[in-house]
Amino acid sequence: MSERAVFATRIGAIAATVGSAVGLGNIWRFPYEAGQHGGGAFLLIYLACVLVMGIPVIVAEFVIGRASRKNVCGALRALSPWRGLHFFGYLCVLASLMIMSFYSVVCGWILEYIMQAVRGGMTGHTSQQNAEMFAQFVQNPWRSVMWTILFLLLNYLILRRGLKRGIERLSNVLMPLLAVLLLAFCLNSLFMPQVWQGLSFLFTPDFSQISPRMVVGAMGQAFFSLSVGLSCLLTYASYFKENDSLLRNATMVAVFDTLVAILAGVMIFPAVFSYGVAPEAGPKLIFEVLPSIFQQMPVGGLWAVMFFALLFVAAITSTISVSEASIAFFCEEWGMSRNRASLLNTVVSMIFGSLCALSFGVMSGFTIAGKTLFELFDYVASNVFLPVGGMFFCIFVGWLLDRKLVKDQLTNHGTLSPRMLKPLIFCVRYVAPAAILAVFLYGIL
Ligand code: PHE
Repeated sequence: MSERAVFATRIGAIAATVGSAVGLGNIWRFPYEAGQHGGGAFLLIYLACVLVMGIPVIVAEFVIGRASRKNVCGALRALSPWRGLHFFGYLCVLASLMIMSFYSVVCGWILEYIMQAVRGGMTGHTSQQNAEMFAQFVQNPWRSVMWTILFLLLNYLILRRGLKRGIERLSNVLMPLLAVLLLAFCLNSLFMPQVWQGLSFLFTPDFSQISPRMVVGAMGQAFFSLSVGLSCLLTYASYFKENDSLLRNATMVAVFDTLVAILAGVMIFPAVFSYGVAPEAGPKLIFEVLPSIFQQMPVGGLWAVMFFALLFVAAITSTISVSEASIAFFCEEWGMSRNRASLLNTVVSMIFGSLCALSFGVMSGFTIAGKTLFELFDYVASNVFLPVGGMFFCIFVGWLLDRKLVKDQLTNHGTLSPRMLKPLIFCVRYVAPAAILAVFLYGIL
């Protein structure tokens, strides 16, 4: 690749990066993880993880990406003082393919729900009927596999169009729209009968809920939601302009991402309690709760179509970033054309995505360590690979990279003087790697 792409505008770069972070992680995964792990205490530990681990890892990835302007392997090869470290990049590519596989299954569910909403298939249902509808759908092998494959095809079409025309344009328009809609739904939830029970579940920490599993889960959720540890943000930063402020972009990503997760919680939990759904229902939580919310609203069918359509957009701006990490790798390391690289990424994701889709039906009996393939991919990628990746990037930037280079990147060669520079570098070097290690040890012991 001779001429490397850059995002056309500063806003475009931020919108695409925030678009990568904001996705199903916030709206689908955060409520169900919080629901399974006791609400308020989970939120508290989650916020701590975003602050002490998430932001430092975002910054570390940004520094590596923009200093090298390469894919993860190329970047590590170019910047590392030691040979062989670039092999770590292969792990990132593996993790990105794992995430693509289970994530596209949920994106497929969203497509099904868009179609159901358009056809009016959810109107007049009780909560019980909504739950049955979801169960029937995910157990049907053809339907869920078909939607997963269809989703990956759409993802492929956008990827093929490349950076500026595909990714940037889509993010610019649709992300703000999602925020507005989410606010409207939060407002609506505040008028539900069990609003206080829902809000106090989310915001009142019950410290007896803190357990090793919960803390590992909160860390995994923070990494997953911020898109860190996988080299997605590294790859995007390789397309940033020289005068973009890395620290400002990192803060924007963390703030927006966290806000959207909290808004999703405010939207979902009052409804969970008002409609008698169990907060620990797991991955199906929002698919059981949302239809009930829409039903009780005037012109609910229309809201449903809009909401699922925007959720779909939020999801696809994230899958594009996951795919982009491996596509940049295939293009630059293996010399593939962009089109072929996108195709390879799509085909591999289709094979494993279909297997993950079947985890809820015919393959539900196939488990490894007590987890179905879907659960296993999610668990291993989010709770193990991403934090390990994050720790690696922090150690790399904090200890192995030339200090001057790091400072140059963070101050744009001395033209910026960010106030938080020193504490941030301290977090990258010490706090984040130690905290990640501590959580792992706590989880294992
Ligand atoms: N952060 C994305 C979301 O919240 C998912 C994601 C994970 C994207 C890892 C890139 C890397 O939906």
